[in-house]
Amino acid sequence: MAYHLLEGKKGIIFGALNSRSIAWKVAERAHEEGAAIVLTNAPIALRMGTINELAEKIGAEVIAADATSLEDIENLINRSMEVLGGKIDFLLHSIGMSPNVRKGLDYDVLNYDYYHKTLDVSAFSLHKILSTARRLDAISEWGSVVALSYVAAQRTFARYNDMADAKAILESIARSFGYIYGREKRIRINTISQSPTPTTAGSGVSGFDKLEDFADRMSPLGNATAEDCADYCITLFSDLTRKVTMQNLYHDGGFSSMGMSQRAIDQYEKSFEDCP
Ligand SMILES: NC(=O)c1ccc[n+]([C@@H]2O[C@H](COP(=O)([O-])OP(=O)(O)OC[C@H]3O[C@@H](n4cnc5c(N)ncnc54)[C@H](O)[C@@H]3O)[C@@H](O)[C@H]2O)c1
Repeated sequence: MAYHLLEGKKGIIFGALNSRSIAWKVAERAHEEGAAIVLTNAPIALRMGTINELAEKIGAEVIAADATSLEDIENLINRSMEVLGGKIDFLLHSIGMSPNVRKGLDYDVLNYDYYHKTLDVSAFSLHKILSTARRLDAISEWGSVVALSYVAAQRTFARYNDMADAKAILESIARSFGYIYGREKRIRINTISQSPTPTTAGSGVSGFDKLEDFADRMSPLGNATAEDCADYCITLFSDLTRKVTMQNLYHDGGFSSMGMSQRAIDQYEKSFEDCP
């Protein structure tokens, strides 16, 4: 159901790779709510993924940009303002990648070149985007920026690896830039800490299916889906949340406030019974 919450607004959405991507669902919902959108992803993702299908469906332009490249980001922002006919009202950072996770290197034996890449792609890219947007004065007053995070920024989850460090930095950048951009231009910057979600990036973490099941059993409301996350993003892009900024907002069915649930205990008891 559409509420016209983004009627007349213009946005840039980073990170729609395929129809499982959280960014894909956000783009669909933003379009339903009346927004005009530019979609962007790394050049290789444009070749490997199916973003053009989405672009056709919602009438969006696709502009390639590696989110670690200042040159690409500047070109993206300038071209987006041309295509959309003015400043940007909202921006979604839905980008994450760890070469250490991909190569199966554990946290205690990280490859440091890969580690730097993880942080550059998954966290510093938010700083680069915000810094470039500010220099170009590309975001409207009361605009809204959302980046997607995970609770491993606060608590340790086995196998989440160097992505935990990236998420902690990402959340800190949202606060630090939220202060500067809020004071100067009344621009909001928040992170959403999302439940495990079966996407290409999510499923890349080894043992993801167990983590997803555990989180679901622990959360009183169950895991938040990608569609649920899209709904939440829409509220943050809308004018209904104009005084929410510099927050890490848990969107996880209650998981982050739980210690132990009856459903998790039941599962544990079953697995003990199975043990000889
Ligand atoms: N899936 C989950 O369980 C989960 C949970 C919490 C938070 N998140 C976060 O949500 C965000 C979106 O991930 P997703 O789960 O939708 O997976 P996804 O794989 O669909 O999206 C990740 C995106 O990052 C893009 N990307 C990677 N390197 C890039 C670069 N150099 N420049 C530009 N884009 C680049 C990929 O092309 C891809 O589109 C990520 O920040 C992820 O960490 C995911």
